[in-house]
Amino acid sequence: MSDGTLDSLRGRFCGRLLTAPDDTAPFLTDWRRNFTGRTLAVAQPDTTADVAEVVRWCAAQRIPLVPQGGNTGMVGGAVPDSGGHALVLSTARLNRIREIDPLNNTLTAEAGCILANVQQAAQQADRLYPLSLGAEGSCTIGGNLASNAGGVQVLRYGNTRELCLGLEVVTPDGEVWDGLRALRKDNTGYDLKQLFIGAEGTLGVITAATLKLYPRPAARMTALAAVASPHAALRLLELAQRRLAATLTAFELMSGACMALVARHFPDCRAPFEQDHAWYVLLESSDPHSEAHATQAFGELMEEAFEAGIVADAAIAASLAQSDGLWRIRHHLPEAQSLDGGDNIKHDISVPISSIATFIERTSADIVAAHPGARVLAFGHLGDGNLHYNVSAPAGMPQAPFVQASGAAVSALVYEAVDRVRGSISAEHGIGQLKVEKNAHYKSAVEMALMQKIKQALDPHGLMNPGRLLPGH
Ligand code: FAD
Ligand code: MLT
Ligand code: ZN
Repeated sequence: MSDGTLDSLRGRFCGRLLTAPDDTAPFLTDWRRNFTGRTLAVAQPDTTADVAEVVRWCAAQRIPLVPQGGNTGMVGGAVPDSGGHALVLSTARLNRIREIDPLNNTLTAEAGCILANVQQAAQQADRLYPLSLGAEGSCTIGGNLASNAGGVQVLRYGNTRELCLGLEVVTPDGEVWDGLRALRKDNTGYDLKQLFIGAEGTLGVITAATLKLYPRPAARMTALAAVASPHAALRLLELAQRRLAATLTAFELMSGACMALVARHFPDCRAPFEQDHAWYVLLESSDPHSEAHATQAFGELMEEAFEAGIVADAAIAASLAQSDGLWRIRHHLPEAQSLDGGDNIKHDISVPISSIATFIERTSADIVAAHPGARVLAFGHLGDGNLHYNVSAPAGMPQAPFVQASGAAVSALVYEAVDRVRGSISAEHGIGQLKVEKNAHYKSAVEMALMQKIKQALDPHGLMNPGRLLPGH
């Protein structure tokens, strides 16, 4: 690619174009530091029209394009490969909230809006945008949609897919599809937005979205409960669903090993109990009625859980500050793992909720038998059947040589166990570069062929985020 060719983009495009190595470097390595690529340039368009200009230019020059939001993805989907031929399209400057309609309970935001800013804008309109995850201070609405992010409130509000009513997309040939409808009902043919949600940028660039808002809850109750086993955690889930119904908004599981890891790296983030426990559940209710109603319902739940011997100890937050303190423990888990000698072997899996406890028991026993000293760090969104079932090197050993020597065998063991219960090898993080082969292995030939046909129809030159999600593109 000659500079002259890039100049032809510079001449037409009004956004910012970064080419100096120091400027492009932050866009080239993923959050987990597993993938570092090279790029022709990083384009930062300000408007949808400018995104279309960049995409048309890439199509004409046959230049691959990698959309990037906050670059917090866990599977290396937002960074270019090492070839240096691709253009990174950063959505950082597409950051306007275009409209809030409180009566319709909708908010329309551009793709580069940071999730926390959207939550805040909703709150200022006395509404709730319920998507919530540890990276919310830096991930973007476009990245959430492209990876169909889950997070900690899926139990009540669903994945990002369920929170989206309309999309604006620049297609691979540079056309703008304005599908920003704000309707709850619309049976007028194929639901095209669903194609782009979860497509990880392989079918087009999302430039804006109309999102669902909800009434803000009158009160929030949070508790950290100590339980003896994942089986006990499931009994607590059943009880909490029966007693709290739709007001149960989060139900997170963490092993004692996870809790100890967070406390080691973040000393002010520790469980408020006198003794350590094998497992912990962080649960939350969001009550539409009142503080008093919430306190009573939550108190009765915890009382029954104690009486039934399900819960060994519990700390119920008495204030929002205490609730935030409990959530800080949970949200520091991803970082605590990377501070613990480097990136470990991660598995973002889902299995039927009814199988999860037995899955943990058996798979953990198999891993320790095959890889003595390996430390299983299991945590995640138990209420959704979604585990972050991660495996770390034996104590005192750096992660890199362990991952190198045992990563493939450990993952094969985990994924075979997932497959036996018809689970998923990616519950919420997506496929990216990391799981392309594994996905093709576990999906049927029919399902892979259908996905390839869709890709071929929309992006016949294979320019949109090539090498991600699908093999051979
Ligand atoms: P990026 O990482 O920039 O991109 C992700 C993918 O989307 C890439 O394939 C990229 O090409 C594509 N993409 C980005 N923007 C667009 C666009 N506008 N149009 C088309 N394609 C686009 N995920 C969960 O699901 N649940 C969690 O609980 C969770 N917790 C996390 C906690 C931490 C601390 C971190 C670091 C990550 C976590 N993640 C979680 C992973 C990640 O999916 C989310 O952080 C987020 O959804 C990614 O958004 P992003 O803007 O950073 O996207
Ligand atoms: C989480 O639930 O904390 C995230 O999905 C990130 C992770 O798996 O580390
Ligand atoms: Zn998660």
